Amino acid sequence: MISTQTQTIQPRFNEPMKNRGSYWITTFGCQMNKADSERMAGILRNMGYEEASTELNADLVLYNTCTIRDNAEQKVYSYLGRQAQRKRSSPHLKLVVAGCVAQQEGEALLRRVPELDLVMGPQHANRLETLLNQVDNGQQVVATDEHKIIEDVTTARRDSKICAWVNVIYGCNERCTYCVVPSVRGKEQSREPKAIKLEIEKLAQKGYKEITLLGQNIDAYGRDLPGITSSGRRQNTLTDLLYFIHDVQGIERIRFATSHPRYFTTRLIKACSELPKLCEHFHIPFQSGNNDVLRRMARGYTIEKYKRIIYKIKELMPNAAISSDVIVAFPGETESQFKNTIQLIKEIGFDQVNTAAYSPRPNTPAAKWPDQLPEEVKVNRLKELNILVEKIARQRNNRYINQIEEILVENINRKNNEQLMGRTRTNRLTFFPKRNHQNKSYSIGDLVKVEINEIRSFSLGGVIAK
Ligand code: SAH
Ligand code: SF4
Ligand code: F3S
Repeated sequence: MISTQTQTIQPRFNEPMKNRGSYWITTFGCQMNKADSERMAGILRNMGYEEASTELNADLVLYNTCTIRDNAEQKVYSYLGRQAQRKRSSPHLKLVVAGCVAQQEGEALLRRVPELDLVMGPQHANRLETLLNQVDNGQQVVATDEHKIIEDVTTARRDSKICAWVNVIYGCNERCTYCVVPSVRGKEQSREPKAIKLEIEKLAQKGYKEITLLGQNIDAYGRDLPGITSSGRRQNTLTDLLYFIHDVQGIERIRFATSHPRYFTTRLIKACSELPKLCEHFHIPFQSGNNDVLRRMARGYTIEKYKRIIYKIKELMPNAAISSDVIVAFPGETESQFKNTIQLIKEIGFDQVNTAAYSPRPNTPAAKWPDQLPEEVKVNRLKELNILVEKIARQRNNRYINQIEEILVENINRKNNEQLMGRTRTNRLTFFPKRNHQNKSYSIGDLVKVEINEIRSFSLGGVIAK
């Protein structure tokens, strides 16, 4: 794509230093990790590293890791084993483990994989250059202490030229009894509204059209910032932030994730229904359809409250898509409690549900409880749930047939370069031929009206509307 924008050259920060070789980053886990990886890639490029063509010839390999479930963690060890072996024959290779496994394991990782050069927790992502300089001085470095996240001064190397993640709050202060995130991501730290807006303005200048505001518990945004209004209401809530950033010129779409039912407000739903750029999609995990299980998970809401939120959304934004996360076979979950989850999914009719079987995690209360369920129960419940979730997603997709949807083009279809791919405002992946009936061709970054004529479980197909 040709950009018509003029760019000011900033002499110091953006000028790459000497060529240091090539880097490779593999990212596991959630959007938070993806956003961190993009910033770390930006730092590496700034330092003079270039992106490697494959992992196997890179001079620096960085794994940005996830430990949300045991299988996510084990994957990292198998990747690391291969690189550790390579390092024995190519000693110049730098090996870095960042992210949540790094934070969880710390020095223990060095004992397990002595070939590692750097182990760094998520709060240290923006310090990559300093840490690598210590490695260059011959040290093996572990950076996992609690750290105030510094504002990023480099330019992230973003995968997309159209859609960008923007962190608004780091960490999580909740204590869900199954979850490892608070212990690996640390305390909540909100960014200043002005810093967030500045980042969005810069993105708009570069041609970005869509932003997704990110936080593990985004509804907690601003709790750690000062400010009460004259009416006694807390200022700097997520809702205030949405109003504050909404009008940045050039940005067409705004999303946010992940919402927590405990703190989700009617004021927020109203704001989303009023503000034209706010997309009609909400990701609100409910985790279980049973109140006893929710209490033992320490989620801080009931199913009744959850339903009130959903019905308010459906009232004010009837076309909104709703997605969620759910855990099956939490310790002590009975068959009938599991059926409550099935029932809730049927009743709400989710557009998408991420499902997982409970996995005991280090330093979490539920991992020590005696009533863990056998593997077989986990597998069976997950299977039953996944069949239902796919069926319901497909039914939900039927509402798009013959509808005209606005698609923001993100890319060319990798399997067919005559086709484009993008998403509806409700976050449905959609594929369509790039030319309209008059042979006019559209491209990445365009907003296109598409008539939907094909429904699949996880995507839609269509043609450009006349
Ligand atoms: N902050 C978000 C979710 C973060 S983790 C929230 O509060 O909902 C992403 C998802 O992983 C969770 O929603 C949950 O469904 C799942 N998850 C977290 N810990 C898990 C565990 N120990 N076993 C199985 N799934 C888990
Ligand atoms: Fe984990 Fe709960 Fe925090 Fe979500 S809100 S990250 S599930 S502790
Ligand atoms: Fe995984 Fe860490 Fe995200 S554990 S889900 S990468 S916060």
